[in-house]
Amino acid sequence: MDIHSLDTPFLAVDLDIFERNLQVMADYCRQHQLRLRPHAKTHKSPWVASQQLRRGAAGITVAKPGEAEVMSVLQPAELLVAYPTIGEGKLRRLARIVQASEGRTRITISIDSNFAAQAIAMAAQAANVRFGILVELDAGLHRVGLTTTEELLALVRIVHALPGLEFDGLAFYPGHIKNNAGIEAAHADIARLLERNLQAVRKAGFAVPIVSGGSTPSWKWAHLIPELNEVRPGTYVYNDRNTIMGGACRMEDCAAVVVATVVSTAVPGQIIIDGGSKTFSSDRLNGAPDAGFGLLLEDHAALFHKMNEEHGYIDVSQCQRSFKVGDRVRILMNHVCVAMNLQERAYGFRQGQLEREWEIAARGKLQ
Ligand SMILES: Cc1ncc(COP(=O)(O)O)c(C=O)c1O
Repeated sequence: MDIHSLDTPFLAVDLDIFERNLQVMADYCRQHQLRLRPHAKTHKSPWVASQQLRRGAAGITVAKPGEAEVMSVLQPAELLVAYPTIGEGKLRRLARIVQASEGRTRITISIDSNFAAQAIAMAAQAANVRFGILVELDAGLHRVGLTTTEELLALVRIVHALPGLEFDGLAFYPGHIKNNAGIEAAHADIARLLERNLQAVRKAGFAVPIVSGGSTPSWKWAHLIPELNEVRPGTYVYNDRNTIMGGACRMEDCAAVVVATVVSTAVPGQIIIDGGSKTFSSDRLNGAPDAGFGLLLEDHAALFHKMNEEHGYIDVSQCQRSFKVGDRVRILMNHVCVAMNLQERAYGFRQGQLEREWEIAARGKLQ
């Protein structure tokens, strides 16, 4: 089947670009001796995760137990829940994954509170399993993560003292780094922060096997942080318009687009496509909020400026070419991870021919 035969809107993945993205990251990590535990929040698909593991990923990162349950079908050696997991039911579900894997899958959770540590230890004991723990440090995003060395060290001590927990090391997420401007200085700041905190933890007598960070906008610079030994990029599998905007990829590295159909040209200077806010995310472009909800690849002068649930409004008054009802257009998403969560399936093409389709099995797994 070729790309023109599927009903729209659908999410098309160029398999050549997708495979190259996976390989480039795997090679970079190998070259710099970084463990790769990619974040599955972007693709939400066990098949994509299996392709990452096949290329040497040490494990898979998720945000929520529901995503962990979906990824557990692969029985990866490691599942990292890189999110403060609060709630007895959620911890019971994570323990069940460990039990069901009969020791094949180890689960690590990143935390920043005594509350979380105590609750995870209780869940571990109740289920007779052990959880790895990464203690989270705020590296500049000011979202989660401890902000002082004293607090960090105190939580490391608590984790060491609690039954059922194994201290794996430290985690941080450099989500404040969105583009290349000042990126080396930002990495030097993180390197200094880590050095200070690691020194204190090691001086107190604790080994720190893992220092986990990394993101897609900063991926090429991860090796500038000497203490970092693991990265968790997510978006890199497909890339998106934000990744181009931040300078971490080129247009030709973007593997995923939404293919839509022009359903109306009744208003002069405008086309309406058959996807709106239930197909694309409402995320604006980082640093360019007026640049619309996605880029029309057929003519970059078009402005995708408004959405209803099932209608996308595109101003084509500045375009060189004309569009008619029935035309198919390709939209490069601003933020692919959120758009992916809205789709049931992804369709993988090579040179315009459908090669495989896969379920986005962890879409909507928010708990
Ligand atoms: C904790 C954590 N780690 C890793 C990532 C991956 O970041 P990116 O998609 O920029 O690669 C995210 C993204 O939200 C995250 O929240």
